[in-house]
Amino acid sequence: MIPDTAVSLDIGSSKTVVCVGRSDAQGRTAIEHVSLLKTRGVSRGQVVNFVELAGCIEEALSAAEKTYAALPDAGAAGSRGRISSVHLSLCGADFVGSNSKGAISLSARPAAITQRDVCRVVDGAIVLAGSLEREMVHVFPREYIIDGSKRVHDPVGMCGTRLGVQVHVISAGEAAVQTFVKAVNRAGYDVEGVVFSGLATGLVTLSEREKEAGVLLLECGAAHINIVFFCERTIHYMNVVPCGGEDITQALMQEFSIDHSQAEELKIRYQAVPARAAAEDEKIIIKKNTGQYQSISLEQVNRTADRALQAVTEALRRELTLSGILARIPGGVVLAGGMCFMDGISDRMEAALGVPVRLGMLRGVIGNNSRLYSMLYAAGIGTVRYALDARRRPAEAVPLRKGFFGQVLSQMRYVYDQYF
Ligand SMILES: Nc1ncnc2c1ncn2[C@@H]1O[C@H](COP(=O)(O)OP(=O)(O)OP(=O)(O)O)[C@@H](O)[C@H]1O
Ligand SMILES: [Mg+2]
Repeated sequence: MIPDTAVSLDIGSSKTVVCVGRSDAQGRTAIEHVSLLKTRGVSRGQVVNFVELAGCIEEALSAAEKTYAALPDAGAAGSRGRISSVHLSLCGADFVGSNSKGAISLSARPAAITQRDVCRVVDGAIVLAGSLEREMVHVFPREYIIDGSKRVHDPVGMCGTRLGVQVHVISAGEAAVQTFVKAVNRAGYDVEGVVFSGLATGLVTLSEREKEAGVLLLECGAAHINIVFFCERTIHYMNVVPCGGEDITQALMQEFSIDHSQAEELKIRYQAVPARAAAEDEKIIIKKNTGQYQSISLEQVNRTADRALQAVTEALRRELTLSGILARIPGGVVLAGGMCFMDGISDRMEAALGVPVRLGMLRGVIGNNSRLYSMLYAAGIGTVRYALDARRRPAEAVPLRKGFFGQVLSQMRYVYDQYF
């Protein structure tokens, strides 16, 4: 693998995406390959069939290898298009955001704070936030405190006797993440790092100004809505609400006694969202699970989808109200994920949340494939950006802990360097 290229594998509950990209001379992320296939072996973010998942990963990456090898310059995928390792983008209810803090004594007399001191104090905060079954996937220092009172974003070079830090930590269930990693290994590939998909999406959909002022990213997927609050160019809050587009599909399945693929088709083809429905009396023929055909109205479809969507937005509103985030977002709300394709989704979210909501779009990304501008690829593309940035991390950012997650930790160091 040549140093300025990366391969990402975003495993969602409904689809798996492979992206290959490199940095161009202007520092943009140049995406050279994107592909997508239906995820197998995962339900609502949990691995339910390991062998099926490994097969799905193998299919996704070998198809990417073939397509990529056909490109004129196939350097990113290694010799003759062979992918050896990937950055894995994941989400799910196993991901949790929490705050922690730490402090260290520097010396009896004021001394200049070094990058090593910064690593030490952050490591202390990480240890305090940790537990045996959870691993830290990302660590975002929110602020450093020198001698108990001076609050700064970058303490290196400043003098003091004591250094404190407040961090936001994104952790995940170790067993859950390791199962995904093992499935990638079983498919014949290595995992270079793990990225929370909400962070990856934020890297390529939010501007620096938005991340500075305070902006809320809602990545609305099939089974999860990832809530990520960016402020002061770092992450202050994240949470996962276990609902999404799949709830609407399930509601249609139950209401009309149809299978999953028909319900997905009804949802996607007829854009089963409310507002325009009432005026339309279009009839749709469905094949029920019993084998019988039945005629239903578009209005019925939309009413069912509307109810399900309302339950999703209500769950989201409750979560955001409890967290107090809605009062702190001058940059408004940005939507990403597959639910973005639903007609009128930003208006619906805006009405439910009472704050300005807009659809996300890719920033700082180039490529010839027009598909890549679809929000379905944002997490995969953001993971490529993350991986490329991580490779440029400073030499001091060497993990104190070893092993797989130690390796991931070294990338976190880079992420928090980047955010300040
Ligand atoms: N054109 C469309 N209209 C309506 N819904 C759509 C459309 N395209 C995709 N979706 C829905 O978006 C959801 C998939 O979103 P996404 O691909 O972001 O999820 P995922 O990454 O697979 O899952 P998750 O991140 O929740 O684990 C599905 O419920 C799908 O039905
Ligand atoms: Mg997803």
